[in-house]
Amino acid sequence: MRNLNEQTVTRAVLDLIADTPNHRLKYVFTSLITHLHGFARDVKLTEEELQAGISFLTATGQKCNDKRQEFILLSDVLGLSMLTVAMNNKKPEGCTESTVFGPFHVEGAPEYENGADIANGAAGEPCMVRGTVRDLDGNPIAGAQLEVWQADATGNYDVQYPDLDTHRGRGLLRSKQDGSFEFRTVVAVAYPIPVDGPVGDLLRATGRHPWRPAHLHFMIKAKNYQTLVTHVFRNGDQYLDSDAVFGVRQTLVADWIRQPDGGYTLTYDFVLNPVG
Ligand code: BEZ
Ligand code: FE
Repeated sequence: MRNLNEQTVTRAVLDLIADTPNHRLKYVFTSLITHLHGFARDVKLTEEELQAGISFLTATGQKCNDKRQEFILLSDVLGLSMLTVAMNNKKPEGCTESTVFGPFHVEGAPEYENGADIANGAAGEPCMVRGTVRDLDGNPIAGAQLEVWQADATGNYDVQYPDLDTHRGRGLLRSKQDGSFEFRTVVAVAYPIPVDGPVGDLLRATGRHPWRPAHLHFMIKAKNYQTLVTHVFRNGDQYLDSDAVFGVRQTLVADWIRQPDGGYTLTYDFVLNPVG
């Protein structure tokens, strides 16, 4: 393995991983190395550009902590998250579509009864959210666990407030016997994804805006059904067609309806895909 050149170095690396015992790992790495080398040849990568790429990834890692996941953000703005969601969540027509998970989910959200206020002090206009969880035949799914999280009226999630040690705008509920659920919260607003790190630099350098259309996050788990990770997006939002992370599906867009006596209501019905 001497005197490798720009043609032969790729084969040399691939030969070295030929005995990788884990077949999937070998397959993924073979493709990754082949594409990485192909990319470098394609753009005629300079040494300065390689160094800039390494510095960018280093800064991305250094920006991460227990409340900030800059690598998820990077994957999201590159469309890699949505591509992976699309490839891995093909479902029969009628099932609720999946979308990106995002970096603002946290473990340990509080449990609430139906009808409770999950805002827990989050700023915003009041909103009542109702819906059902059903199977493809329209049968109610009782006892499904719904996890909800959302930004407040300023466009921030609770985890983005450094000094806040309670959960706001997030919670766990269970669907009732008839598959229904309801909770109070605040109206979702459009917000920019965090731009004070390397991902923000990338967006600015490529002339992109950081905005996401207003949405509620849901993760719904029920026995014998595939876990659904999705959003409900607010109809009429100006960013529906330019979501910074490519997450919008038309079937996930719904109306937040203003009520005569103030506040809003949102109704959305979820349909889960059975396992297997
Ligand atoms: C979110 O909706 O919480 C989100 C998703 C992707 C990137 C940033 C935020
Ligand atoms: Fe979000």
